[in-house]
Amino acid sequence: MTGPKDSNDSQDEGKSNVLDKTISRRDLLRLAGVGGAGLLLGATGVSGLFSAKSRSGVSSAAPTVAANVDQIVSFYGKHQAGITTPAQDFIVFAAFDLTAASLGEVRKLFQDWTQAAATMASGELLGDTNDNLNLPPSDTGEAAGLSPSRTTITFGVGPSFFDGRYGLAGKRPAALVDLPAFGGDELRAEWSGGDIGVQVNANDLQIAFHALRNLARIARGKAVLRWTQEGFQRTSGADPSGATPRNLMGFRDGTGNPDVTDDAEMNKVVWASASDGTAWMSKGSYMVVRRVRMRIEVWDRSTLGDQEATFGRHRASGAPIGAVHETDKLDLDKKDEKGKPVIPMNAHVRLAHGDGSVKILRRSFSYSSGLDNKTGQLDAGLLFIGYNRDSRKQFIPMQQKLGQSDLLNEYIVHTGSAVFACFPGVSEGGYIGETLF
Ligand code: HEM
Repeated sequence: MTGPKDSNDSQDEGKSNVLDKTISRRDLLRLAGVGGAGLLLGATGVSGLFSAKSRSGVSSAAPTVAANVDQIVSFYGKHQAGITTPAQDFIVFAAFDLTAASLGEVRKLFQDWTQAAATMASGELLGDTNDNLNLPPSDTGEAAGLSPSRTTITFGVGPSFFDGRYGLAGKRPAALVDLPAFGGDELRAEWSGGDIGVQVNANDLQIAFHALRNLARIARGKAVLRWTQEGFQRTSGADPSGATPRNLMGFRDGTGNPDVTDDAEMNKVVWASASDGTAWMSKGSYMVVRRVRMRIEVWDRSTLGDQEATFGRHRASGAPIGAVHETDKLDLDKKDEKGKPVIPMNAHVRLAHGDGSVKILRRSFSYSSGLDNKTGQLDAGLLFIGYNRDSRKQFIPMQQKLGQSDLLNEYIVHTGSAVFACFPGVSEGGYIGETLF
């Protein structure tokens, strides 16, 4: 994490304590009740001070929070945050299964989640400032005093959400298909599926964990965790230049992504439209999650030449083989002096690129989850996340080609899989899923 957080931490601590100790939220309510609040609070008013209870504990009018503004990604907007948002340093991904007794309870869950997610994204503590020793605190506390760290929380629903339990079977989007089996799949139930998918990102793992933990707490009685996966990439602190991150195979990963600042491109590649047939998904997107384990030990014994041929790019620069710079054009027609394609026919980028007309937006993270007990080898790889407007036309044909003949298949195995329809965004006062419910 860069400047803003550091400067906040040191300056705010003192103020935070003063605010916490001198005037609790409950004190304020009491004061408001006896009619003295106006005098006492002046122009700030009760609500102003309530919303001022940021995690760093200072008034939102204070200059230190202004310095924090670039650490906040607004939860609200026409699209959900966390899709075209530049990828943060960490991910905590979770799939939930519903246990709610009724559609009303499911709706309530999304309403509660919306409020909590918006609160956590803005760096505030959940619920009242709870100083009642006889109640569990309303916030679990591990993010207290910490920067918002560009937290985003993105919600989607899987095919099983529409299985009839809640009377929503008729609302399942045609584009929310179960993925077919792909070549090389070794999927495990423990990393697959889910009624609901929640992607939490932040530039701090403790903050991302805090968000997911509190969402799970709020879901009690309505949904249970099915599987989770944490992931990371090099932090912005380790590379302030923001160069394309490298995956655990040492290659820059994300170079060929479409431009998230190009609205027309995003409308074509990422955002669903009412004209696609499901009005409630308009401005939403379909997320594909694949837990892809890397056979790291095998990869580490392969030659640099083989590694580069596998991807079709140079490792050091990230440039297409035969080119110099990372962003140089991917020229798939280029031949060597013997007439052989410079980028092998089954190289990952050639197959994934195709004729260039079908794209997806990748937002993947590396993961490392200890040892595979059976083999004693590292269980590490890529938590692949891809967003697209219609997986039937984008992700599925792409992965069918890759699964069949990608040179990379020698070094990877897909162990988990899930798909989710990510709702459109909401404005303040609304709730995630409102277009469906
Ligand atoms: C462990 C699994 C994977 C690894 C390590 C990996 C790695 C890479 C790397 C290094 C590149 C080149 C740099 C770049 O453009 O980002 C790339 C490109 C790409 N990958 Fe993957 N990838 C994996 C899985 C997938 C999957 C499952 C898909 C989708 C089905 C996919 C789709 C793409 C696309 C669309 C490109 C860009 C091609 C272009 O230049 O147009 N990748 N990948």
